[in-house]
Amino acid sequence: MIVVTGATGTVGSAVVGGLRERGVPVRALVRDAASVPAGWDAGVEAVVADFADPASLDAALAGAETVYLLVAAQSAMVEHERNVIDAAVRSGGRPRVVLHAAAGADGGPTGARFVDAHVAGFAHLRASGLPWTVLTPNGFFQNFLGMAASVRTGVLAVPGGRGAVSYVDARDVAAAAVAVLVEDGHQGAVYTLTGPDSLTHDALAEVLAETVGHPVRYVSPSPEQALESLVGAGYPRWNAEGLVELYGYYAAGRAADVSPDVEKLTGRPARSFAAFAAEFATTFTTPPPGA
Ligand SMILES: NC(=O)c1ccc[n+]([C@@H]2O[C@H](COP(=O)([O-])OP(=O)(O)OC[C@H]3O[C@@H](n4cnc5c(N)ncnc54)[C@H](OP(=O)(O)O)[C@@H]3O)[C@@H](O)[C@H]2O)c1
Repeated sequence: MIVVTGATGTVGSAVVGGLRERGVPVRALVRDAASVPAGWDAGVEAVVADFADPASLDAALAGAETVYLLVAAQSAMVEHERNVIDAAVRSGGRPRVVLHAAAGADGGPTGARFVDAHVAGFAHLRASGLPWTVLTPNGFFQNFLGMAASVRTGVLAVPGGRGAVSYVDARDVAAAAVAVLVEDGHQGAVYTLTGPDSLTHDALAEVLAETVGHPVRYVSPSPEQALESLVGAGYPRWNAEGLVELYGYYAAGRAADVSPDVEKLTGRPARSFAAFAAEFATTFTTPPPGA
Protein backbone atom coordinates (compact mmCIF):
# COMPACT_ATOMS: atom_id res chain seq x y z
CA MET A 1 0.00 0.00 0.00
CA ILE A 2 1.22 3.49 -0.87
CA VAL A 3 0.40 6.08 1.79
CA VAL A 4 0.30 9.69 0.58
CA THR A 5 0.64 12.52 3.09
CA GLY A 6 -0.13 16.14 2.22
CA ALA A 7 -2.73 14.55 -0.05
CA THR A 8 -5.12 17.52 -0.23
CA GLY A 9 -2.43 20.06 -1.14
CA THR A 10 -0.99 21.41 -4.40
CA VAL A 11 1.45 18.55 -5.07
CA GLY A 12 -0.11 15.77 -3.00
CA SER A 13 -3.51 16.04 -4.70
CA ALA A 14 -1.78 15.62 -8.09
CA VAL A 15 0.17 12.65 -6.70
CA VAL A 16 -3.07 10.97 -5.63
CA GLY A 17 -4.59 11.72 -9.06
CA GLY A 18 -1.53 10.40 -10.89
CA LEU A 19 -1.49 7.17 -8.89
CA ARG A 20 -5.20 6.61 -9.52
CA GLU A 21 -4.71 7.22 -13.29
CA ARG A 22 -2.35 4.25 -13.16
CA GLY A 23 -4.93 2.25 -11.21
CA VAL A 24 -2.77 2.15 -8.09
CA PRO A 25 -4.65 1.96 -4.76
CA VAL A 26 -3.79 4.81 -2.40
CA ARG A 27 -4.21 5.51 1.28
CA ALA A 28 -4.44 9.29 1.60
CA LEU A 29 -4.03 11.30 4.80
CA VAL A 30 -6.57 14.03 5.48
CA ARG A 31 -6.81 16.17 8.58
CA ASP A 32 -10.55 16.28 8.49
CA ALA A 33 -12.95 13.65 7.11
CA ALA A 34 -15.12 16.49 5.80
CA SER A 35 -12.29 17.71 3.54
CA VAL A 36 -12.05 14.54 1.42
CA PRO A 37 -11.93 15.84 -2.17
CA ALA A 38 -15.01 15.00 -4.23
CA GLY A 39 -12.86 13.63 -7.09
CA TRP A 40 -11.39 10.74 -5.09
CA ASP A 41 -12.73 7.38 -6.23
CA ALA A 42 -13.13 4.10 -4.35
CA GLY A 43 -9.45 3.35 -4.95
CA VAL A 44 -8.52 6.06 -2.45
CA GLU A 45 -8.81 5.12 1.21
CA ALA A 46 -8.95 8.37 3.17
CA VAL A 47 -7.60 8.21 6.73
CA VAL A 48 -7.83 11.02 9.22
CA ALA A 49 -4.46 11.83 10.79
CA ASP A 50 -2.42 14.80 11.93
CA PHE A 51 1.37 15.20 11.65
CA ALA A 52 1.35 16.45 15.23
CA ASP A 53 -0.41 13.31 16.54
CA PRO A 54 1.88 10.24 16.50
CA ALA A 55 -0.94 7.81 17.40
CA SER A 56 -2.95 8.92 14.39
CA LEU A 57 0.16 8.45 12.22
CA ASP A 58 0.65 4.91 13.56
CA ALA A 59 -2.87 4.02 12.43
CA ALA A 60 -2.43 5.73 9.06
CA LEU A 61 0.88 4.02 8.29
CA ALA A 62 -0.08 0.49 9.43
CA GLY A 63 0.88 -1.96 6.68
CA ALA A 64 2.42 0.74 4.47
CA GLU A 65 4.97 -0.43 1.89
CA THR A 66 5.74 3.07 0.63
CA VAL A 67 5.14 6.45 2.26
CA TYR A 68 5.07 9.70 0.29
CA LEU A 69 6.08 12.28 2.89
CA LEU A 70 5.09 15.88 2.16
CA VAL A 71 4.59 18.33 5.01
CA ALA A 72 3.32 21.89 4.77
CA ALA A 73 5.81 24.76 5.03
CA GLN A 74 5.18 25.95 8.56
CA SER A 75 7.01 26.35 11.85
CA ALA A 76 6.45 22.75 13.02
CA MET A 77 7.60 21.19 9.73
CA VAL A 78 10.78 19.62 11.14
CA GLU A 79 8.80 17.95 13.91
CA HIS A 80 6.15 16.85 11.39
CA GLU A 81 8.69 15.16 9.09
CA ARG A 82 10.29 13.47 12.09
CA ASN A 83 6.92 12.25 13.37
CA VAL A 84 6.03 10.58 10.07
CA ILE A 85 9.48 8.98 9.73
CA ASP A 86 9.30 7.71 13.32
CA ALA A 87 5.81 6.28 12.70
CA ALA A 88 7.16 4.55 9.58
CA VAL A 89 9.89 2.98 11.72
CA ARG A 90 7.35 1.91 14.37
CA SER A 91 5.14 0.31 11.70
CA GLY A 92 7.72 -2.48 11.58
CA GLY A 93 7.32 -3.13 7.86
CA ARG A 94 10.33 -1.04 6.77
CA PRO A 95 8.37 1.02 4.23
CA ARG A 96 10.36 3.07 1.74
CA VAL A 97 9.89 6.76 2.49
CA VAL A 98 9.79 9.09 -0.52
CA LEU A 99 10.58 12.48 1.00
CA HIS A 100 9.29 15.54 -0.84
CA ALA A 101 11.90 18.09 0.22
CA ALA A 102 13.24 21.20 -1.59
CA ALA A 103 16.18 21.97 -3.88
CA GLY A 104 19.33 22.18 -1.78
CA ALA A 105 18.07 19.79 0.91
CA ASP A 106 20.70 17.21 -0.02
CA GLY A 107 23.49 19.60 1.02
CA GLY A 108 24.36 21.32 4.28
CA PRO A 109 22.36 24.07 6.01
CA THR A 110 21.59 27.00 3.69
CA GLY A 111 20.24 29.73 5.98
CA ALA A 112 16.84 29.39 4.26
CA ARG A 113 14.61 27.79 6.89
CA PHE A 114 12.27 26.00 4.47
CA VAL A 115 15.25 24.24 2.86
CA ASP A 116 17.00 23.65 6.18
CA ALA A 117 13.91 21.98 7.62
CA HIS A 118 14.20 19.42 4.84
CA VAL A 119 17.97 19.10 5.40
CA ALA A 120 17.07 18.05 8.97
CA GLY A 121 14.29 15.74 7.74
CA PHE A 122 16.63 14.05 5.25
CA ALA A 123 19.25 13.54 7.99
CA HIS A 124 16.58 11.99 10.22
CA LEU A 125 15.44 9.74 7.38
CA ARG A 126 19.00 8.52 6.67
CA ALA A 127 19.50 7.83 10.38
CA SER A 128 16.21 5.90 10.56
CA GLY A 129 17.61 2.96 8.61
CA LEU A 130 14.51 2.93 6.37
CA PRO A 131 14.89 2.70 2.59
CA TRP A 132 14.43 6.15 1.05
CA THR A 133 14.18 8.29 -2.07
CA VAL A 134 14.39 12.09 -1.89
CA LEU A 135 12.81 14.58 -4.29
CA THR A 136 14.23 18.09 -4.19
CA PRO A 137 12.01 20.39 -6.26
CA ASN A 138 12.83 24.02 -6.90
CA GLY A 139 10.25 26.81 -6.44
CA PHE A 140 6.88 26.15 -8.07
CA PHE A 141 5.41 28.09 -11.02
CA GLN A 142 2.14 27.90 -9.08
CA ASN A 143 3.54 30.41 -6.55
CA PHE A 144 3.04 33.09 -9.23
CA LEU A 145 -0.73 32.49 -9.29
CA GLY A 146 -0.81 34.10 -5.84
CA MET A 147 0.78 37.23 -7.38
CA ALA A 148 -1.82 37.54 -10.15
CA ALA A 149 -3.50 40.64 -8.66
CA SER A 150 -0.16 42.48 -8.65
CA VAL A 151 0.71 41.24 -12.15
CA ARG A 152 -2.62 42.69 -13.35
CA THR A 153 -1.42 46.11 -12.12
CA GLY A 154 1.83 45.67 -14.05
CA VAL A 155 4.15 44.75 -11.16
CA LEU A 156 5.98 41.57 -10.14
CA ALA A 157 7.42 42.29 -6.69
CA VAL A 158 9.56 39.68 -4.93
CA PRO A 159 12.92 40.16 -3.21
CA GLY A 160 14.73 37.87 -5.66
CA GLY A 161 17.39 40.35 -6.80
CA ARG A 162 19.08 39.42 -10.07
CA GLY A 163 19.39 35.69 -9.36
CA ALA A 164 18.07 33.17 -11.88
CA VAL A 165 15.83 30.35 -10.63
CA SER A 166 14.93 27.09 -12.36
CA TYR A 167 11.29 27.20 -11.19
CA VAL A 168 9.23 24.07 -11.94
CA ASP A 169 5.57 23.22 -12.47
CA ALA A 170 4.16 21.50 -9.36
CA ARG A 171 2.35 19.07 -11.67
CA ASP A 172 5.71 17.91 -13.06
CA VAL A 173 6.92 17.48 -9.49
CA ALA A 174 3.88 15.28 -8.79
CA ALA A 175 4.35 13.27 -12.01
CA ALA A 176 7.97 12.61 -11.08
CA ALA A 177 6.85 11.54 -7.61
CA VAL A 178 4.33 9.10 -9.07
CA ALA A 179 7.08 7.47 -11.17
CA VAL A 180 9.32 7.15 -8.13
CA LEU A 181 6.47 5.72 -6.04
CA VAL A 182 5.40 3.00 -8.48
CA GLU A 183 8.70 1.96 -10.07
CA ASP A 184 11.54 -0.11 -8.68
CA GLY A 185 15.11 1.11 -8.68
CA HIS A 186 14.82 4.49 -6.98
CA GLN A 187 16.04 3.51 -3.54
CA GLY A 188 18.83 5.74 -2.23
CA ALA A 189 18.39 8.28 -5.07
CA VAL A 190 18.01 12.06 -4.82
CA TYR A 191 16.20 13.67 -7.75
CA THR A 192 16.37 17.42 -8.30
CA LEU A 193 13.18 18.60 -9.96
CA THR A 194 13.41 21.81 -11.96
CA GLY A 195 11.84 23.42 -14.98
CA PRO A 196 13.67 23.43 -18.33
CA ASP A 197 15.07 26.98 -17.91
CA SER A 198 16.78 29.14 -15.36
CA LEU A 199 15.17 32.58 -15.49
CA THR A 200 15.77 35.81 -13.59
CA HIS A 201 12.69 37.52 -12.21
CA ASP A 202 13.17 40.20 -14.89
CA ALA A 203 12.84 37.45 -17.50
CA LEU A 204 9.83 35.94 -15.72
CA ALA A 205 8.16 39.40 -15.70
CA GLU A 206 8.78 39.63 -19.47
CA VAL A 207 7.05 36.28 -19.99
CA LEU A 208 4.10 37.47 -17.87
CA ALA A 209 3.97 40.76 -19.84
CA GLU A 210 3.71 38.84 -23.11
CA THR A 211 0.96 36.71 -21.59
CA VAL A 212 -1.16 39.56 -20.22
CA GLY A 213 -0.49 41.93 -23.14
CA HIS A 214 0.74 44.89 -21.08
CA PRO A 215 4.07 45.78 -19.43
CA VAL A 216 4.94 43.95 -16.21
CA ARG A 217 7.82 45.53 -14.30
CA TYR A 218 9.93 43.48 -11.90
CA VAL A 219 10.79 45.23 -8.64
CA SER A 220 12.93 43.64 -5.95
CA PRO A 221 12.06 45.18 -2.59
CA SER A 222 14.63 45.09 0.22
CA PRO A 223 14.31 42.13 2.60
CA GLU A 224 12.97 44.51 5.27
CA GLN A 225 10.31 45.96 2.93
CA ALA A 226 9.35 42.48 1.75
CA LEU A 227 9.00 41.20 5.33
CA GLU A 228 6.84 44.14 6.31
CA SER A 229 4.55 43.69 3.34
CA LEU A 230 4.22 39.90 3.82
CA VAL A 231 3.36 40.27 7.52
CA GLY A 232 0.97 43.10 6.60
CA ALA A 233 -0.70 40.77 4.10
CA GLY A 234 -1.36 38.29 6.91
CA TYR A 235 1.49 35.78 6.53
CA PRO A 236 2.57 34.20 9.83
CA ARG A 237 5.89 35.84 10.75
CA TRP A 238 7.79 32.51 10.63
CA ASN A 239 6.61 31.95 7.05
CA ALA A 240 7.21 35.57 6.03
CA GLU A 241 10.79 35.41 7.34
CA GLY A 242 11.20 32.06 5.59
CA LEU A 243 10.07 33.51 2.27
CA VAL A 244 12.47 36.44 2.57
CA GLU A 245 15.32 34.02 3.35
CA LEU A 246 14.34 31.86 0.38
CA TYR A 247 14.35 34.81 -2.02
CA GLY A 248 17.77 35.77 -0.63
CA TYR A 249 18.91 32.25 -1.51
CA TYR A 250 17.45 32.75 -5.00
CA ALA A 251 19.05 36.20 -5.32
CA ALA A 252 22.45 34.64 -4.59
CA GLY A 253 21.97 32.36 -7.60
CA ARG A 254 21.86 29.23 -5.46
CA ALA A 255 18.67 27.84 -7.06
CA ALA A 256 19.72 28.36 -10.68
CA ASP A 257 20.85 24.91 -11.79
CA VAL A 258 18.67 23.10 -14.33
CA SER A 259 18.29 19.36 -13.80
CA PRO A 260 17.21 16.72 -16.36
CA ASP A 261 15.45 14.65 -13.66
CA VAL A 262 11.82 15.56 -14.49
CA GLU A 263 12.22 14.26 -18.05
CA LYS A 264 14.29 11.30 -16.85
CA LEU A 265 11.49 10.23 -14.47
CA THR A 266 8.38 11.16 -16.46
CA GLY A 267 9.59 10.52 -20.02
CA ARG A 268 8.55 13.98 -21.20
CA PRO A 269 10.14 17.43 -21.00
CA ALA A 270 9.37 19.63 -18.01
CA ARG A 271 6.80 22.36 -18.75
CA SER A 272 8.21 25.83 -19.47
CA PHE A 273 7.15 28.96 -17.59
CA ALA A 274 5.85 30.42 -20.87
CA ALA A 275 3.56 27.41 -21.36
CA PHE A 276 2.40 27.64 -17.74
CA ALA A 277 1.68 31.38 -18.03
CA ALA A 278 -0.26 30.84 -21.26
CA GLU A 279 -2.31 28.06 -19.65
CA PHE A 280 -3.22 30.28 -16.70
CA ALA A 281 -3.50 33.51 -18.73
CA THR A 282 -7.05 34.12 -17.51
CA THR A 283 -5.90 34.04 -13.89
CA PHE A 284 -3.24 36.64 -14.72
CA THR A 285 -5.63 38.87 -16.67
CA THR A 286 -9.07 38.57 -15.06
CA PRO A 287 -9.89 39.37 -11.41
CA PRO A 288 -11.79 36.58 -9.68
CA PRO A 289 -15.54 37.22 -9.18
CA GLY A 290 -16.14 39.56 -6.26
CA ALA A 291 -12.53 40.87 -6.20
N1 LIG B 1 6.01 26.18 -2.91
C1 LIG B 1 7.22 25.99 -3.41
O1 LIG B 1 7.69 26.75 -4.26
C2 LIG B 1 8.02 24.80 -2.94
C3 LIG B 1 9.21 24.49 -3.61
C4 LIG B 1 9.96 23.39 -3.19
C5 LIG B 1 9.52 22.64 -2.12
N2 LIG B 1 8.37 22.97 -1.48
C6 LIG B 1 7.95 22.15 -0.35
O2 LIG B 1 6.69 21.62 -0.72
C7 LIG B 1 5.92 21.41 0.47
C8 LIG B 1 4.58 22.06 0.29
O3 LIG B 1 3.92 21.42 -0.79
P1 LIG B 1 2.50 21.94 -1.27
O4 LIG B 1 2.63 23.30 -1.84
O5 LIG B 1 1.89 20.88 -2.10
O6 LIG B 1 1.76 22.05 0.13
P2 LIG B 1 0.28 22.59 0.45
O7 LIG B 1 -0.48 22.83 -0.81
O8 LIG B 1 0.44 23.68 1.44
O9 LIG B 1 -0.38 21.32 1.16
C9 LIG B 1 0.04 20.91 2.43
C10 LIG B 1 -0.64 19.60 2.76
O10 LIG B 1 -0.24 19.21 4.08
C11 LIG B 1 -1.43 19.00 4.85
N3 LIG B 1 -1.19 19.34 6.24
C12 LIG B 1 -0.88 20.56 6.74
N4 LIG B 1 -0.72 20.48 8.07
C13 LIG B 1 -0.96 19.18 8.41
C14 LIG B 1 -0.97 18.48 9.63
N5 LIG B 1 -0.71 19.10 10.79
N6 LIG B 1 -1.25 17.16 9.62
C15 LIG B 1 -1.54 16.53 8.46
N7 LIG B 1 -1.55 17.14 7.25
C16 LIG B 1 -1.27 18.46 7.25
C17 LIG B 1 -2.48 19.88 4.22
O11 LIG B 1 -3.75 19.42 4.62
P3 LIG B 1 -5.00 20.44 4.75
O12 LIG B 1 -5.67 20.39 3.39
O13 LIG B 1 -5.82 19.84 5.81
O14 LIG B 1 -4.45 21.78 5.09
C18 LIG B 1 -2.16 19.67 2.75
O15 LIG B 1 -2.66 18.42 2.31
C19 LIG B 1 6.71 21.98 1.63
O16 LIG B 1 7.37 20.93 2.29
C20 LIG B 1 7.70 22.91 0.94
O17 LIG B 1 8.89 23.08 1.69
C21 LIG B 1 7.61 24.03 -1.88
